[in-house]
Amino acid sequence: MSRVYNFSAGPSALPEPVLRQAREEMLEWRDSGMSVMEMSHRGKYFSIIAEELESDFRALLNIPENYKVLFMQGGASAQFSLIPQNILQGKTRACYVKTGAWSEKAISDAQNYCDVVVSASSEESKFTTIPDFSSWVLDDQAAYLHYTSNETIHGVEFSEIPNDNGLPLVSDMSSNILSRQCDVSRYGLIYAGTQKNMGPAGVTVVIVRDDLLGGASKATPPVFNYAEQAKNNSMLNTPATYNWYLVGLVLKWLKKQGGVGAIEQRNIAKAAKLYQAIDQSSLYHNPVELACRSRMNVPFILADDALDKPFLVAAEANGLFELKGHRSVGGMRASIYNAMPEAGVLALCDFMSEFERTH
Ligand SMILES: Cc1ncc(COP(=O)(O)O)c(C=O)c1O
Repeated sequence: MSRVYNFSAGPSALPEPVLRQAREEMLEWRDSGMSVMEMSHRGKYFSIIAEELESDFRALLNIPENYKVLFMQGGASAQFSLIPQNILQGKTRACYVKTGAWSEKAISDAQNYCDVVVSASSEESKFTTIPDFSSWVLDDQAAYLHYTSNETIHGVEFSEIPNDNGLPLVSDMSSNILSRQCDVSRYGLIYAGTQKNMGPAGVTVVIVRDDLLGGASKATPPVFNYAEQAKNNSMLNTPATYNWYLVGLVLKWLKKQGGVGAIEQRNIAKAAKLYQAIDQSSLYHNPVELACRSRMNVPFILADDALDKPFLVAAEANGLFELKGHRSVGGMRASIYNAMPEAGVLALCDFMSEFERTH
């Protein structure tokens, strides 16, 4: 077996110790006599897994008690519709900030439920910047303010929490949750798909402040009603049990790494190395303004796009996989989430420098 360095944007590389533990426990979890996949979600063994999952997640992000944590299905994409369905609370408008492909999608889906006020947009810069907070137009009659803290496709990340002007702040953290410290108490709601920094695809975490619960529109299906799921510990119906277990293993791995603060330092160092390799070269270019470059998703284009294919072929021959950029942006993208070891980033930098020398 030879495992490669996998730079996929998601589903993405998982920590190897997690995969090994899952393999070891495949036939029997602890002393249960059965695989996690075979357990009743209401049985005594799975209850332990579910309780540890929530308490580890709360501890890692220091989630205050007045917030519920939900583990849902439907991906972050479902949340684009579920957020307005659940937390408009009778209001007709919501503010959104447009900073890339994912916030654009969130806006387009929310428009089915409310009037969207685009408070700020970086479309003119082709999504390579974040509009200065002071320029944002915030409507005080809006139900909430939504932004995407890391734009996975455009490689743009917020390094600070924006001013909310008293509106409940809602953030899509699908591609940077648990990669950096985060003051949950500043938010009304945080959501994220798990398939980047938290585990395999199939679970979506929602952290929601208590006062935002209970006002869902009547048309909201019960399994997508936050208050109902909160009352039922996210088990109104059968949850994705094995995925919960795997997310739980990733959280335990992260705790062993020293938690979010420690992994953030490693993420800063990894990203700095890669951006340095790009900025020093005359072949590679990253178009994002320095202050909002993502630590998680690093897009770069080659000076001559005829070299894209040879670059990808040679990268794979060197054990570096999934570097092709998103089709809407082109070029390359290296996703370097928590599970990407520093050695993987160094191997990529070495390869890029060698490729430039020989091309
Ligand atoms: C920032 C962001 N939001 C939302 C999504 C959509 O997630 P899903 O495919 O789980 O619905 C993605 C997927 O890559 C993403 O990166």
